[in-house]
Amino acid sequence: MTARRPMIAGNWKMNAGPDALHVIEEMVEALTPLSDQVDCLICPPATILAGARSLTKGKPVRLGGQDCHHKTSGPHTGCLSADMLRAAGAEAVILGHSERRTDHAESDALVQAKTAAAGEAGLAPIVCVGETLAQRQAGQAEATVAAQITASVPERAPEGLVLAYEPVWAIGTGLTPSLEEIIAMHRAARQALARRCGAAAADATRILYGGSVKPDNAAAILSLPEVDGALVGGASLETKSFLAIVRAHPMLSRFGSA
Ligand code: 13P
Repeated sequence: MTARRPMIAGNWKMNAGPDALHVIEEMVEALTPLSDQVDCLICPPATILAGARSLTKGKPVRLGGQDCHHKTSGPHTGCLSADMLRAAGAEAVILGHSERRTDHAESDALVQAKTAAAGEAGLAPIVCVGETLAQRQAGQAEATVAAQITASVPERAPEGLVLAYEPVWAIGTGLTPSLEEIIAMHRAARQALARRCGAAAADATRILYGGSVKPDNAAAILSLPEVDGALVGGASLETKSFLAIVRAHPMLSRFGSA
């Protein structure tokens, strides 16, 4: 098995107040000493990517976008291409987040087209999948996620592909699956990816867990060998909580807890 480098990514969603760049500056300073062990990625709203890039320049902390269009240019009011995000400073992009799938009716096919476009632009796509509570209660969690992976990821996995398993019912709710459930879902996700893209690509792809990751549950989740990192929403908005989550990774235990 390949040793996959851990990744902790912060998804700021539609949150960035007047002090947002100051927060990024603070995060970059705090995360820099930790970044030789763990990839740290901040995905702020695209409007502040360029400003944030001036703060991450020469530093190991990376920036990502939260969505991109599947085309490179054209009459798509309000949209951003993968190339534009890259030019603004992004190195990765979150795609197919459940909030996009719900708010914007994004289909697996569209997510797949965006994933291919991101790869072609040199962005690492972070493809999100996850079941609803009704699907879990119906015993369909693994089948749902496997089907999403098959239809949302191009057969030829883009360079730097990352998957994020985010159960819809765990996002922003304070609820999380049990550790056994997380293990089972990550194993099922990797098997589905292997069927779709081949064993080598599946082995190289990081699978992050997302959904109510907080400083107090991060150590338990991040110590699971099936989990290659976390995609953090609410707790990534403040330096203290994001830093505590990164520090909770077992690779960083020598830095102690926050
Ligand atoms: P929360 O960490 O706020 O539950 O959000 C998770 C998420 O949606 C990250 O993409």
